[in-house]
Amino acid sequence: MLFAEKGRFCYNNGMIDLQDYGITMWEEDKIVAFRKALLDWYDANKRDLPWRRTSNPYHIWISEIMLQQTQVVTVLPYYKRFLDWFPTVEDLAQADEERLLKAWEGLGYYSRVRNMQAAAQQIMTDFGGEFPQTYADIASLKGIGPYTAGAISSIAFGLPEPAVDGNVMRVMARLFEVDYDIGDPKNRKIFQAMMEILIDPDRPGDFNQALMDLGTDIEGPKNPRPEESPIKAFSASYQHGTMDKYPIKEPKKKPRPMQIQAFVIRNQDGAYLLEKNKQGRLLAGFWSFPIMETQLLEQQISLFEDKTLVMERLSQTDSFGDKYQMNPVWSTHTFSAVNHVFSHQKWQIELIEGTVDTADLPKTGQLEWVDLEDFENYPFATPQKKMVEAYLSGDR
Ligand code: ADE
Repeated sequence: MLFAEKGRFCYNNGMIDLQDYGITMWEEDKIVAFRKALLDWYDANKRDLPWRRTSNPYHIWISEIMLQQTQVVTVLPYYKRFLDWFPTVEDLAQADEERLLKAWEGLGYYSRVRNMQAAAQQIMTDFGGEFPQTYADIASLKGIGPYTAGAISSIAFGLPEPAVDGNVMRVMARLFEVDYDIGDPKNRKIFQAMMEILIDPDRPGDFNQALMDLGTDIEGPKNPRPEESPIKAFSASYQHGTMDKYPIKEPKKKPRPMQIQAFVIRNQDGAYLLEKNKQGRLLAGFWSFPIMETQLLEQQISLFEDKTLVMERLSQTDSFGDKYQMNPVWSTHTFSAVNHVFSHQKWQIELIEGTVDTADLPKTGQLEWVDLEDFENYPFATPQKKMVEAYLSGDR
């Protein structure tokens, strides 16, 4: 669907038609009136925040990343100190790691600040030290997703790019009674398409920030005050008395419990068998003791209640042997179970220790014999680190 306005074409990014999602976009005069109502309210009520007194993209970027972690009041001192310590992109690119982490201490998600440094280095090497000025270039920087790219593009460069986060989706869902779950990432494109049409091409940064202010306060997730909303006249859910129903947000699915068997195998030189996780799978590229989901083994071991028997059975039934083409002698040492929760899976990992008298490795998979002191040279994800800890503190 193409939409002409002031000689400029807005489009719903060519990928989706809002009608398919039960959303009828407004006529042009209603869109123009909506923008005006929102921006008039913003002009009268906007919060005076330090990142709103600048159009420096570097400053705006820092504020946006920090605001993803916590609320405005908490961000204020962090923002000031960060820019005192690292006044330019170059300073951030060259920052010493300890000072960088110190600047972020208490905000959590340290990968975010590490990504910011990597992005600053990208700006130095790929963009000659100048902050990129197009949406695509900004979005190519490490750690910058569609929301942040939209926020920087619109606020710093006046580009008509939406910045769609949970707050904006909530406001949009109420405006149009959107029957799609705002918590499901695949639905983001619906809200993106709506915003591409609605965004004010003359004041996109203010438009986005007005929705952010509205979405965190009057239209907040808890105790909204719809009567006070400057856009209530436009809101289908306000008009129909369905404010309680929108946005649709399904409770997050609980992570699926999984039983995992980890095999700690040593060869005659005392080295351990490590396997690299396959691409496209969970924790791809990380190394781990070989693991198998216990359900796969269950048919073979369910008859046995005694752990020793289970282990004997394992060695005899070749579950491990089939896959790894070796038949370890299993020890009776016990180890505490390792628990690890991912967003969608909850692992309980049991360790079994075994030894083999060979150093031959099967051709399948990516396997290596590794001495304990060399483990630090292999990327381990948290579950593997926990497995190593449980193994080393096990009874023997
Ligand atoms: N939350 C995210 N971005 C924001 C901004 N620019 N102003 C206020 N709150 C925000």
